[in-house]
Amino acid sequence: MQIRDFKLERYFAAYEFSVRHMLSASDCEALSLAELLALADAETRALWQGLKLSYTESQGHPLLRAEVAGIYHGITPDELLIAAPEELIFIAMNVLLAPGDHVIATFPGYQSLYEIAQAAGCTVTHWPLTPGPTGWQLDLDFLARSITPQTKLLVINFPHNPTGFLPTRSELDQIILLARRHGLTIFSDEMYRLLEYRPADRLPSIAELYERGIALSGLSKAFALPGLRIGWLATHDRDLLGRCLAFHDYTTLCASAPGEILGIIALRAKAHILARNLALIRDNAAAFATFCARHSSLVRWLPPRAGSVAFPQLRADLPVAQFVEAVLARKSVMILPGDVFEHTGNHFRVGLGRADFQQALGEVERCVEESGW
Ligand SMILES: Cc1ncc(COP(=O)(O)O)c(C=O)c1O
Repeated sequence: MQIRDFKLERYFAAYEFSVRHMLSASDCEALSLAELLALADAETRALWQGLKLSYTESQGHPLLRAEVAGIYHGITPDELLIAAPEELIFIAMNVLLAPGDHVIATFPGYQSLYEIAQAAGCTVTHWPLTPGPTGWQLDLDFLARSITPQTKLLVINFPHNPTGFLPTRSELDQIILLARRHGLTIFSDEMYRLLEYRPADRLPSIAELYERGIALSGLSKAFALPGLRIGWLATHDRDLLGRCLAFHDYTTLCASAPGEILGIIALRAKAHILARNLALIRDNAAAFATFCARHSSLVRWLPPRAGSVAFPQLRADLPVAQFVEAVLARKSVMILPGDVFEHTGNHFRVGLGRADFQQALGEVERCVEESGW
């Protein structure tokens, strides 16, 4: 397979482990092993202490799948497959798509959500999110107009990376109605689900709502455990899940044994971990909104409704490349420019879940003042 570079990941690879601060990381401040183990109950502590580093069950540890199923309504442990989140995108796209298929994907977006389809010989229509008067918006008529007889798959990502957009329940229902009418599968990337700022805004998973829906989620974002490399696919479509399980034999075969047990501990402690991460996000989002208000001629805040990222816009006469390069060179703070998302609107991403966010923002503010921007 020929596949283009993953621009965001190449950008991260260049700077992530050498800069002083990351202003754009999408994960929340990672828990340490000691912090996580302190949350274990008697059963999971015994599982951890007695853990043998053997191969694990290909579909995922039964206890882990039972805990994941507990996040959903009506999803059973048999309707889940455990693997690394990025790997699950690769598996699902390979199983779902054939050359010549048409795919519609929300845009901008996490590149693998449309790039793997493109590399597999599909044509991809980008369904654009656009800045509106009060935040990001999505045009449902555009979706209706874009569906062709070749359209096989609709790829959505709510809460959305990089904008923090979350549709209303009515918008999501309309999307499902259109998909059902045209027999489309929906791949729904729900990596940032459970990080809704208002609990009432949380949407059901596509796996709960749509018989041809397949949801991706995992522990990397909302649970602050990207190093575990634990994610899952959830779907009522058992045939599709079976084909993903068979493809998984050609990728990693099974998840890492320590990752699975630590994942069970995290899922059992979800109330504590989610509250910790939402508190971080709320504080950092408030600090960033204040920064934007102080520098309103420089940056436009487009408030997210959920998740740990946002995608503000820089004023037109300061190219985002110049802005991020200056902040990197002078303050050793990495900011992700919008062009790594192949977006041309002079935006940059901020990651709201890190403990040093406000320190990093302070450095950016000093750079702004010293530059006279
Ligand atoms: C929307 C989205 N989907 C999937 C992933 C992949 O998750 P992971 O890096 O844990 O494999 C990411 C990671 O940034 C993401 O933002």
